[in-house]
Amino acid sequence: MSLTVPVPLGSRAYQVSIGELAPEATAELLADALKNPTGVAVLVDGNLASLSPRVAALVAALSARLPRVRQLNLAPGESAKSLTQVERSCQWLTEHGYDRGAAVVGLGGGASTDHAGFVAAIYLRGISFALVPTTLLAMVDASVGGKTGVDLPAGKNLVGAFHQPRAVVADLGFLDTLPARELAAGMAEVVKAGLIADAALFERIERESGNIGREALGELITAAVKVKAGVVTDDERETGRRAILNFGHTLGHALEAESAYALLHGEAVSLGMVAALTIGQARGVTEPALVPRATRLLARLGLPTDVNGRITGPVLARIEVDKKRRSDGVKFVFVPRPGDAVVVEVPLEEIKWQALAAFPGL
Ligand SMILES: NC(=O)c1ccc[n+]([C@@H]2O[C@H](COP(=O)([O-])OP(=O)(O)OC[C@H]3O[C@@H](n4cnc5c(N)ncnc54)[C@H](O)[C@@H]3O)[C@@H](O)[C@H]2O)c1
Ligand SMILES: [Zn+2]
Repeated sequence: MSLTVPVPLGSRAYQVSIGELAPEATAELLADALKNPTGVAVLVDGNLASLSPRVAALVAALSARLPRVRQLNLAPGESAKSLTQVERSCQWLTEHGYDRGAAVVGLGGGASTDHAGFVAAIYLRGISFALVPTTLLAMVDASVGGKTGVDLPAGKNLVGAFHQPRAVVADLGFLDTLPARELAAGMAEVVKAGLIADAALFERIERESGNIGREALGELITAAVKVKAGVVTDDERETGRRAILNFGHTLGHALEAESAYALLHGEAVSLGMVAALTIGQARGVTEPALVPRATRLLARLGLPTDVNGRITGPVLARIEVDKKRRSDGVKFVFVPRPGDAVVVEVPLEEIKWQALAAFPGL
């Protein structure tokens, strides 16, 4: 049994399916969504390919249903997100004769799904694709919304395209091999979804945080995907409301980069959310009780929350190179209370000043 979340984008509408799925069930959902492809290139995270027995089982189940199914192992994790690796994948597609009727299936964490989606967006000017996210972060965030792309030496996600998948299938069975630290990092984005748009989700994680079973996790993922799907449907190309998804990310990205990526994205976002709530409280936007509440929850989930001392001058300086910055202001997201978010264009100097006031450890 799987739960489903529709992403109603007109002619590009698709579904996200979530559940502990047999490889045959995953393959069936992918085959239905991809219609009649002339071939299927399964691009797989390099670590996952060697770790998870589910990869071979899924490729076999796809081969039983679709023509010319072949597997290419990508460089593991973030190292797949380069133009060199994209060229390698495109070259491999041509060598194996994949034409405009072929489809890509991206199998892995957010890095592999971003790579696979981007390859599908540009190969022969665009072919269809579907995603099988295998990290919690990719299930709740990276695989939904149609953003694809890779990094440049100058920064992350600087090259990319919007390209919507035909389907996303999140098989929770893939989480069996995921390290606990990666799982916790993914939970940060689930908490974010609750904070910005779903108070009941936030409260449920508070109640169950010590003891989240597979079935409950499937429901939490479904709720988080609904939040992301709702926001991206309203604002597919990030001109307005989609900005609320950046809650915790303005300072989160700065902390992540300043740590030279020693912090996982979700860990940095956990710190960024605590910082944004604290600054929100200082501005009178965030209800005071929420700061300790959210901090306690994130800590219980195994995430870092010790912002004081981490928001340093060099971290604040990094906000300036955030590509989401407009004019001299930062689109800063505040959460007044669980389930509610407001985007305020704040002058960069004011954010710096307020961070300095809120975090005396500087
Ligand atoms: N497109 C979007 O909207 C969007 C949104 C959020 C994040 N992202 C991108 O997603 C990426 C981060 O995603 P991530 O956190 O999944 O990282 P990731 O893809 O690097 O995966 C994390 C690690 O887990 C390994 N892994 C993947 N699945 C596994 C499994 N089931 N078992 C064991 N190991 C497994 C990977 O090899 C890697 O080492 C970043 O590149 C980020 O930019 C994109
Ligand atoms: Zn994020």
